Amino acid sequence: MIDYSTACKVSIAPMMDWTDRHCRYFMRLLSPSVGLYTEMLTAAAIYHGDKDSLLRFDPSEHPIAVQLGGSDPELMAYAARESNTRGYDEININVGCPSDRVQSGQFGACLMAHPEIVASCIKEMQDQCNVPVTVKTRIGIDENDTDDFLSRFVDILVAAGCRKFIVHARIAILDGLSPKDNRTIPPLNYERVFRLKRRNPDLDIHINGGVSHTEQISELLECVDGVMIGRQAYHEPYLLAELENRLLSGAEMPHRVDIVERMLPYIEQQLIDGERLNRISRHMLGLFAGQPGARAWRRCLSENAHKHGAGPEVLQRALDAVPEAA
Ligand SMILES: Cc1cc2nc3c(=O)[nH]c(=O)nc-3n(C[C@H](O)[C@H](O)[C@H](O)COP(=O)(O)O)c2cc1C
Repeated sequence: MIDYSTACKVSIAPMMDWTDRHCRYFMRLLSPSVGLYTEMLTAAAIYHGDKDSLLRFDPSEHPIAVQLGGSDPELMAYAARESNTRGYDEININVGCPSDRVQSGQFGACLMAHPEIVASCIKEMQDQCNVPVTVKTRIGIDENDTDDFLSRFVDILVAAGCRKFIVHARIAILDGLSPKDNRTIPPLNYERVFRLKRRNPDLDIHINGGVSHTEQISELLECVDGVMIGRQAYHEPYLLAELENRLLSGAEMPHRVDIVERMLPYIEQQLIDGERLNRISRHMLGLFAGQPGARAWRRCLSENAHKHGAGPEVLQRALDAVPEAA
C-alpha cells in the first residue's frame, strides 16, 4: 500500500484532453508512486452527466486525485461525495484555469478574487468526504501580483480547513491572454511560492510551472513539499521512470519496449469495450523521445492508429522501427 502523503511529493498535473484515464494508466506503468490527477471535471457535468463514465479510473491509478471545477458549494459537495464514493484519494479544486469558458461559469482562476466562495466550497466538500480537499491555484491574478494577495487567499482557505496547495508559479491574466499563453507569458516566480512555504511551514505546499528535469525537481523539493509536472511529463513520459528511480521508490527503470508490451493487454481489453486505438496510443507518442527510432515510432502511430479496425499490431509495427526493440 502506497503512503499517499509521501508518495505525492511528485505529481503529474491535471491537463484537459491529455490526462484522461488511458494516459494515466500508461503513466502509472512508468511510475508506480507518482501522484496522478484527472483532467478537470466540472461539478455540473458530474451532477447532470454520466457520473460512472466521467469518474471512472483503473485501480492501478492510485494514488489518484480528481480535479473539480465549480463555485456552487452544494454542487461541489455533491461532486466531492460522488468522487469520494468511487475511491479517489484526494479531491482538488481548480482555482487556476483562466479560460473564458471557465470564467463565465465563475470558477477557475477568477475565484482567487473571491476566496470566501472557495472557502464555502471547501467546508461543504469536506463535510461530504473523508479524503483531503486541496486547491490548485496561481500566485496571483491580473494586477493582484503580490505576496500579500496570495497569503490572504491562502489564509482564508486554511481557516476553512484546506491544508494542501498546489501553486502554479505565475499569475493568470484573465482578460486578453488565451489559456495557452497564460502558461508561458506571465513570468515564473518560484520565490513567491518558497516564501509562502516559509511563512506556512505546517502547510503542504507544492510548486508547479516550467519543471522539466530530475535535478530541478530535487532542488525544488528542498524548498517546498512537492513538485507537480505538466507538459514535460506528457511530451517525454519516460521522465516518470527516471523520477521513480531517482527520487521516489528507487524502482529500477523499465525498458520502454516493456512498457509498450505491458500496454498491449490493456489496449486489447479497451478495444473490446469499444475504444479506438488512437485514443490510447496518442498518449504514447513521446515514449521514445530522444532515442533512436523516436520519429519513426511517432510517425507509424500517427499515420495508422486512427484507421478503422486498427489494433495492437500497429504498436508492434511501430516497435519494428525502434532499435531498442530489436
Ligand atoms: C493541455 C493542457 C490542459 C490543461 N488543463 C488543466 C486542467 O484541467 N486543470 C488545471 O488545473 N490545469 C490545467 N492545465 C495547466 C497544468 O495543470 C499546469 O498548471 C501547467 O501546464 C503548468 O505546468 P507545466 O509548466 O509543468 O506544464 C493544463 C495544461 C495543459 C498544457
